[in-house]
Amino acid sequence: MAGPAGPAASGQVVTAQVADGDLEPERRHDAESTASAGVCPRQSQVDGPIGGGPHGAGNVESPGESGTDGGRDHCVSNDEDEDRALLALADSVDRPSAARVYDYFIGGETNYAIDRAFAEQVRERVPLIGEYCRTSRQFLGRAVRHCSAGGVTQFVDIGSGLPTAGNVHEVADAARPQLDTRVVYVDNEPIALAHSRMLLADTADPERHHAIAADLMEPGELWAQVRDTEILDLSRPVVLIVNAVLHFIKDQDDPDGIIEFYRELLPSGSLLVLSQMTNENPESEDERQALADLQDYYERTTNPGQLRTTGEFARFFGDWVLEEPGLVYAPAWHPDDETLFRTEPSQSRVLGGVARKS
Ligand SMILES: C[S@@+](CC[C@H](N)C(=O)[O-])C[C@H]1O[C@@H](n2cnc3c(N)ncnc32)[C@H](O)[C@@H]1O
Repeated sequence: MAGPAGPAASGQVVTAQVADGDLEPERRHDAESTASAGVCPRQSQVDGPIGGGPHGAGNVESPGESGTDGGRDHCVSNDEDEDRALLALADSVDRPSAARVYDYFIGGETNYAIDRAFAEQVRERVPLIGEYCRTSRQFLGRAVRHCSAGGVTQFVDIGSGLPTAGNVHEVADAARPQLDTRVVYVDNEPIALAHSRMLLADTADPERHHAIAADLMEPGELWAQVRDTEILDLSRPVVLIVNAVLHFIKDQDDPDGIIEFYRELLPSGSLLVLSQMTNENPESEDERQALADLQDYYERTTNPGQLRTTGEFARFFGDWVLEEPGLVYAPAWHPDDETLFRTEPSQSRVLGGVARKS
């Protein structure tokens, strides 16, 4: 996993770096207000300073370390914390980030020139990459509706990304007009986190929806933060979503052990929603090479990773029971009229499945 990067790590460079580099003027303002939002967006939704986990300069404080009553309902806004937030932000905008590149591909607006230039370079080599990303997002929506319809109303969305159309709390609330769904969003990308908090401040119910900064790869700390939100009853079934994230975790970083940790934590009746990009069955030698190149390109981002075949991906569900139709190309998973690639699911290059703990 990539560590803190170059000039950003030396401090006090955010504004200069942003002004000289990637961001257009209007975005520069966004970046600065985003940093502030990450530090202290709203009294009721702050768990601590934003952080980047292994990708960022600022670490997520574990509950109790922050000296802020576990971070809950406490606005952290002193200079040190603000500096840390700005450093995390600087590291985040120093290179393309998976969250913002994905946002660009699915038609969002929270991305910078460095992300867009990278995205277009990727698209030249993998022309349908935008459609693959939209396929992942569509799968997420269908999976959330499925889980809601089945009566599981608590969601932890790890690697939730930048808010855009079809956020989990919106889909879940639309599926259950009684408004009894609860969602904790988790991401380790500072801009994604800050925008999630701004979205929640505008559209969500603070009693039922929350966004925290945490790293999938630090599951004990992440889960402590989820618990500290007091949004969820963790003795009851939870839908754990890790959608379009595992291709950013290499096998050498032990995703098996990490996902197993979460599976063991969750009570019976919980559901696991997973998807990831695959390099299975390329149609030609050129496509096989293009998918290998895609993986290489992401080495330059804040989120290097690896593609997996169905066999390599299936293990993350452990012994949980896959809901029908199993682990499949995502467009084959309960497609609707909007589903891209529904007539040829394997063209999508995205695998997805939902499994239940017995
Ligand atoms: C491709 S986006 C997917 C967004 C959303 N899950 C969706 O399906 O629309 C991947 C997200 O995973 C996040 N991510 C990557 N590695 C992570 C980690 N170790 N911990 C938390 N989030 C991570 C990125 O910051 C990014 O927001």
